[in-house]
Amino acid sequence: MPTSPPDEQKIAAMFNTIAPRYDFLNHLLSLRQDYRWRSKLAARIPDRPNLKLLDVATGTGDVIAACRQNKKNPPHCTGIDIAANMLSRARSKLDPSVNLQQMSATSLSFTDSSFDAVTIAFGLRNVSDQQRALQEFHRVLKKDGQLLVLEFFPLEGGLFAPFFNFYSRQLLPRIASLFSDKTAYQYLPDSVANFSRAPELVQLANDCGLGSGHHEFFLHGAVGLLQFYRL
Ligand SMILES: C[S@@+](CC[C@H](N)C(=O)[O-])C[C@H]1O[C@@H](n2cnc3c(N)ncnc32)[C@H](O)[C@@H]1O
Repeated sequence: MPTSPPDEQKIAAMFNTIAPRYDFLNHLLSLRQDYRWRSKLAARIPDRPNLKLLDVATGTGDVIAACRQNKKNPPHCTGIDIAANMLSRARSKLDPSVNLQQMSATSLSFTDSSFDAVTIAFGLRNVSDQQRALQEFHRVLKKDGQLLVLEFFPLEGGLFAPFFNFYSRQLLPRIASLFSDKTAYQYLPDSVANFSRAPELVQLANDCGLGSGHHEFFLHGAVGLLQFYRL
């Protein structure tokens, strides 16, 4: 769990500031791997008629865009986020049938058992009360509904870790500072370092009534796609 939980208002302010260059820097700094990771997530969306999807911390809407490009193309998509400027980017990108609302992951205004799938990509790490958010995901999911979490995880061992940590701590904030707010991109590696290890997050989700499905890792374990089922 994070050593100091992120403050929701400060997080919203930070994402409001970086919203104009968010997509550009995401694609640049990940060498466009972020597209691949989100399309892996989209491919895991269950194939159900009239599927209802909730994308939490939707940001500029790239998860919903990836899901819409997938052949399953969920017909009912809702995206929520606390940062208004991120949501306006999403609005300009997605078709008007997508329901976008400003809302926190820790206090969802949806009724119980209303979604077949809940997704959250690179968002959970930023949420102040992750246990509360997972309880909310459990509440709004239908029985057997799926939660898909795409997230960065701290890399501690292995040959790749020093290179990745040098890139994310030294190079990434410098490159980002040429186009956007440097502090926000210094926060990124800090937030990853303070985030749960994957097994801890799995345990927390299990404790919230979310059973484990198939977990997949990319970039030598730096990025994980975790799948859970509502029990
Ligand atoms: C790194 S961005 C990820 C955006 C998008 N999911 C993507 O894949 O690009 C993290 C997002 O989480 C949002 N966020 C942070 N805390 C949140 C919360 N408590 N509830 C909802 N959204 C939150 C931020 O505003 C930001 O848009």
